[in-house]
Amino acid sequence: MKYSGKHIVTLAAAAFLLLAGCAEETQTVAPVSSSPVGPVPAAAQRDGDPATGLAALVNGGYDTCGMPYRAYRRIAEPVKAADLGIEREGRNAELPYMLSSYTTPSGVELVTTNCLGCHAARFEGKLIIGLGNETLDFTVNPALNAERAGAYVRGAGETAAWLKWADRLNALAPYIMTETVGVNPAPSATVLLMAHRDPVTMAWSPDPLLEPPPRPPLPVSVPPWWRMQKKHAMFYHTAGRGDHARMMMMKSLVCTDTVEEARRIDRMFPDIRAYLAALEPPRFPFPIDEEVAKKGRQVFENHCARCHGTYGENESYPNLVVSVEEVGTDPLYADQAVKDAGRFVRWFNTSFYGEVSQAAPALGYIAPPLDGVWATAPYLHNGSVPTIASLLESASRPKHWLHPGDKPLFDPTTLGWRVEALAYGKQGARDEQERKHIYDTSLPGHDNGGHLFGDVFSDAERTAVLEYLKTL
Ligand code: HEC
Ligand code: HEC
Repeated sequence: MKYSGKHIVTLAAAAFLLLAGCAEETQTVAPVSSSPVGPVPAAAQRDGDPATGLAALVNGGYDTCGMPYRAYRRIAEPVKAADLGIEREGRNAELPYMLSSYTTPSGVELVTTNCLGCHAARFEGKLIIGLGNETLDFTVNPALNAERAGAYVRGAGETAAWLKWADRLNALAPYIMTETVGVNPAPSATVLLMAHRDPVTMAWSPDPLLEPPPRPPLPVSVPPWWRMQKKHAMFYHTAGRGDHARMMMMKSLVCTDTVEEARRIDRMFPDIRAYLAALEPPRFPFPIDEEVAKKGRQVFENHCARCHGTYGENESYPNLVVSVEEVGTDPLYADQAVKDAGRFVRWFNTSFYGEVSQAAPALGYIAPPLDGVWATAPYLHNGSVPTIASLLESASRPKHWLHPGDKPLFDPTTLGWRVEALAYGKQGARDEQERKHIYDTSLPGHDNGGHLFGDVFSDAERTAVLEYLKTL
């Protein structure tokens, strides 16, 4: 779908609201849960072992459909040495780190995706587990790969496994194809998968049982995992309340069709959660001017700490959700979660997942912990601002910028990506390649305004705060 003007977007949104409204009238349903803005209360978590969690994370088994291994061998390109970056055993030792081997109960060997495709990325050439991957290209149709693999599938078992996987990708494709390279559609994928499942039995329905989410998916930036050490709730709008482990296993919504299998997978996740919660941010790999950083710390504590907390000795973190009005960043992501997603919140809260977790989004965004934030460009929940320097000086944010593709260049002065600013948006693009690389902040959900808290700074104060952020 291509936006041809604000009016069409508004009409489409209105039509969607009407549809959603009708669907709701015909069902008897519990009230929608949402959360207030303000501090997020802590929730008890199941204990786990971080080392066991890391092994489970990289060896997979929580994603149970995928490409038959034999077909994978026929169409896969040779693995780059750099993509073997993680030590694994058996078949996994020969697969790139974001893929894991899984053998189905009927004995078909599959290649499946693990969490690291989205939640690991390179910084200055080094693979960092937990760093959000902001260079994936979701503009391409994922079902095409499944089709290519289909030509090499043989026998009844493989064919059945391939069909299941290809079916899921076909259902997902329209809801996960983004308009821009680099942004992530995972939240849209998650609710689309809910729409295809009975919440009680988890059985898959080829046709959606609930009104699907709007298209195209809103752009979302992948947050770093090490924030989970401090955060009481998951996700920007803090919808992920209660038990985090159960929430984290939602990736298995793609393939898991029975509660029995979901319970098996759930047993892996307290360890995986423990690993995430023990993960430390990387250290800034370039020199830091300690004198300037010290001044920056003072400025930070006066202007930023009430929302983002304090760091170092006696650190504190308030777990504060700030209303969309107060923070002023693009409100659509929180708005949709609170106002247009009641059916998904209800699905979640009446499902296997809702036994110990609750979906309860707030009409705001959490002020994240800023540990290792210098490594996490581009910024804001929608990834609309390429550097922290421009986040702290709103007039300097580029309205249109070119996504650098799979090898972004880090700028240690501005703390973010060196990007080319353009005088035109997607509509002025010279060709399709350029169009899909343009981050166009005039599109719905892509706005780069708000968070004006650094605008009051003198240049010296801003430079000092940037220097301080390098120490976190
Ligand atoms: C297709 C990409 C993708 C995959 C695969 C994926 N995630 Fe995520 N994940 C995201 C995105 C995007 C978000 C941000 C959503 C939000 O915060 O609203 C996210 C958020 C999270 C968060 C919350 C972080 C925070 O600060 O609130 C955790 C924890 C997490 N994912 C864990 C996992 C685990 C564990 C797996 C594998 C079982 C996984 N994810 C698989 C894309 C993905
Ligand atoms: C009123 C509360 C508040 C204050 C004050 C505040 N922030 Fe934020 N900050 C937020 C919220 C909320 C977000 C998330 C907004 C979003 O993603 O749309 C955020 C996001 C950020 C991010 C981006 C994180 C990421 O990975 O995308 C950085 C960096 C940041 N703030 C730094 C600062 C600094 C430095 C200051 C002091 C000048 C500051 N903030 C002051 C609430 C605040």
